[in-house]
Amino acid sequence: MLAGRIRTEQGDITRVRVDVIVNAANPTLLGGGGVDGAIHRAAGIGLLEECRMIGGCPTGEARITGAYNLPHRHVIHTVGPVWQGGAANEAALLASCYRASLELAEDRACDSIAFPAISTGAYRYPLEPATEIAIQSARDFLRTDGPAMDIVFVCFDAKTRAIYEEIIRRP
Ligand code: APR
Repeated sequence: MLAGRIRTEQGDITRVRVDVIVNAANPTLLGGGGVDGAIHRAAGIGLLEECRMIGGCPTGEARITGAYNLPHRHVIHTVGPVWQGGAANEAALLASCYRASLELAEDRACDSIAFPAISTGAYRYPLEPATEIAIQSARDFLRTDGPAMDIVFVCFDAKTRAIYEEIIRRP
């Protein structure tokens, strides 16, 4: 039995009511489009200034900041792999993004965390294998008698949500 809960929502991650939201960032941490753009627009200039102080983040790792104008305690910035065909360690790097983000959230005693579909947009990671990694990473984290953390996968469109729900239902 898993200690925490895994569920999906559809919509804009900046509006999801959790302790911490995860940003699908790039190695500079200086913002971009997609979910990165949405989070920086909603959080305001303070987020960019803190990110500038951090000075970047390697692919597969995560960094935590304040949330500024967002109604959350923190933002976790993680850098997913760019899809290069599957032979460049992409799966391990993507799993590392989820694990590193969950560990940072646990370190800060967060009860709930929301993830976007990391790497499946501009970074072109195929949606189904990326979703399998996301769900498996969450289950692995909760199963090692981790905290009773609620893990929300925020899908920006119905197609993404349908894949997440189908994979969550697999035994
Ligand atoms: N809320 C939730 N999900 C969103 C939002 C949002 N506001 N905006 C986009 N998404 C979804 C996309 O539809 C996709 O499913 O987030 C997923 C990840 O897509 P991207 O944001 O393009 O992220 P990624 O593929 O990891 O590429 C990262 O894009 O924005 C730049 O600076 C970023 O260089 C980095 C790259």
